[in-house]
Amino acid sequence: MLSRRLFSLANLRGTIPSDFHFVPDFFSVSEQRTLLSAALERLDAAGSRRFQKRRKNSRSKLNTAAAIYEAPLSELFLPDDCYEFLQVSPYLLCIWRRHTNAKFAFAEGHYDGVIHNYRETHLTSWPTAEFPGLVPALSRLQSVLPSSNIQTHLLHLASDGEILPHVDNVSASGRWILGVSLGSDRILRLESCANPDEVAEILLPSGSIYIQSDTVRYQYKHSILRNSAFANGAGQRMSIMIRVSPSYDRTIPNHS
Ligand code: OGA
Ligand code: MN
Repeated sequence: MLSRRLFSLANLRGTIPSDFHFVPDFFSVSEQRTLLSAALERLDAAGSRRFQKRRKNSRSKLNTAAAIYEAPLSELFLPDDCYEFLQVSPYLLCIWRRHTNAKFAFAEGHYDGVIHNYRETHLTSWPTAEFPGLVPALSRLQSVLPSSNIQTHLLHLASDGEILPHVDNVSASGRWILGVSLGSDRILRLESCANPDEVAEILLPSGSIYIQSDTVRYQYKHSILRNSAFANGAGQRMSIMIRVSPSYDRTIPNHS
């Protein structure tokens, strides 16, 4: 478990539920650069040819040496129109609305419209050979995981991307979820399923990690607000989501 349970007051509004752990400055800027570059590389490789070409054209217009070592982290992202972000159809949105009327809103993967303007991939391996700093950064991350047998997802939100309130599918993963935030700041909102007035909002800076486990994982909905919710986060955001596999964690609580 995380050795630090830190909240700087500037990061927080409301009362944080128990079982939520947050380290605002877990990764250094150079670790963030490495993780973000590797994550973009993996997502880009999975994308369509048309967009790969667009990215190539866009990159050739940039000064890539500066973009990698000196420019702000946000410049590792190309403009939004270089990525094939998925939108959500009205039909899927309608299904999501029905979920929210239930006591618990579960995300069926992400395919029921909980996320808008995003791309994602399930990660089977990191490109460690291409990014020398990756192994030490990942092993630091590994040292704070509550258990092994994990699944990793990369989730890239467009500048206007958002994640609507949901509880992660309880049959798809177990009792904890770790999120690494890279790129533009976003607000994570937690809302008690039993009492919607119990709300906490946490500002997630680039390089921060959080863990939702047990109570907060099962009894709170979480969402990532759109950029318009606050002033200084107009860009794209990557999250590395790590979850424990359900088959290694059979103790799913009964919500009824
Ligand atoms: C998710 C999710 C939160 C984040 O992928 O289910 O809620 O921090 N992500 O990106
Ligand atoms: Mn989620």
